[in-house]
Amino acid sequence: MQTFEKTVFSQLSKFPSTRYMGSKDKLLPELFRTFNKLEFSSALDIMSGTNSVAYLLKAMNKKVTTNDYMRMNFVIAKSLVSNNGTKLPDDIATELLKNNRTNKFIEDNFSGIYFDDADTREIQNINNNIQHLLKPSQKYLAKAALIRACIKKRPRGIFAYTGLRYNDGRKDLRQTIGEHFIHSVETINNAVFSNKLTNKALNIDSMDVNEQVDLVYIDPPYFSPLSDNEYVRRYHFVEGVARDWQGVELQEHTKTKKFKSYPSPFSKLDTTIQAFEELIKKYAKSHIVISYSSNALPKKNVILKILKKYKSNVHVKSVDYRYSFSNQGFAKDKIKNKVSEYIFVGKD
Ligand SMILES: C[S@@+](CC[C@H](N)C(=O)[O-])C[C@H]1O[C@@H](n2cnc3c(N)ncnc32)[C@H](O)[C@@H]1O
Repeated sequence: MQTFEKTVFSQLSKFPSTRYMGSKDKLLPELFRTFNKLEFSSALDIMSGTNSVAYLLKAMNKKVTTNDYMRMNFVIAKSLVSNNGTKLPDDIATELLKNNRTNKFIEDNFSGIYFDDADTREIQNINNNIQHLLKPSQKYLAKAALIRACIKKRPRGIFAYTGLRYNDGRKDLRQTIGEHFIHSVETINNAVFSNKLTNKALNIDSMDVNEQVDLVYIDPPYFSPLSDNEYVRRYHFVEGVARDWQGVELQEHTKTKKFKSYPSPFSKLDTTIQAFEELIKKYAKSHIVISYSSNALPKKNVILKILKKYKSNVHVKSVDYRYSFSNQGFAKDKIKNKVSEYIFVGKD
């Protein structure tokens, strides 16, 4: 292995991956090889999810802008992409576990729905204590650790069902939220690094991003008529923690106490096609790399046709891929989770 590749992969081994729907952590080696063939110094991960690809690009010494309309992903971006050095000291992390009854919103609304009473109380305590941290950079790190703790403790890592079903006795499910929190702080601190460049995190709709970059990476939710691709429905609880439920309305009548999904053009086929074209047109002067699934619509040829309209040098690579079972909602369908992951490249 070349030295550069080794250095990048060693940094990637520190990335705190989760089972987030559609996460590309297993595809990073392939994406590294794709990016490494292109010449560029600035990059935009326009729908970044866990930020695994933004983190790869940062490790490759690119000046990175990362964006996602979910606040929980912005919190990770502020901790690991735009942050070049701040860590959350252990003593401060431990202090965040202390009893704090100033706000009981989480306990009042969610006790027994996703976690038992003791864990729900710990989430409430930590969240209340985070409000009192003075440095915004430490707040982001602490929120990122709390969100990770909730996802790790939750069977299947999602909040689309209630109760403690799917408890398979895994060690993750036996640890308390407090233990997960302290461990997540260590994991996140360990992943903080500097690439000596000014990297940026955004939290807006992908269609509103306007950045001058050499390369844009587009990894939208995959549209399928067989299942929905809504992120808020699966992650509303941790998204709520990230934004303290500010600006959203709990749907009191629902069992899950979710809130309304954020509108996205990638939730319907016709608007997905239009959004692809709009983004490709906007970034026609940059390298464009797109991830999409063979299971999803539009099909490969439609995306290729749009890319070829704006770029003269286009190719597509197909990578065999097996999704983890909560990924992309294809679990219940007849395709048995075996799909190809396409990487489309439109060169500058
Ligand atoms: C397939 S995931 C990205 C996964 C990511 N590459 C990773 O490795 O974790 C798609 C992401 O698009 C985000 N998203 C969906 N519609 C969006 C929109 N209109 N604007 C910004 N982000 C959007 C979702 O919140 C989700 O995190």
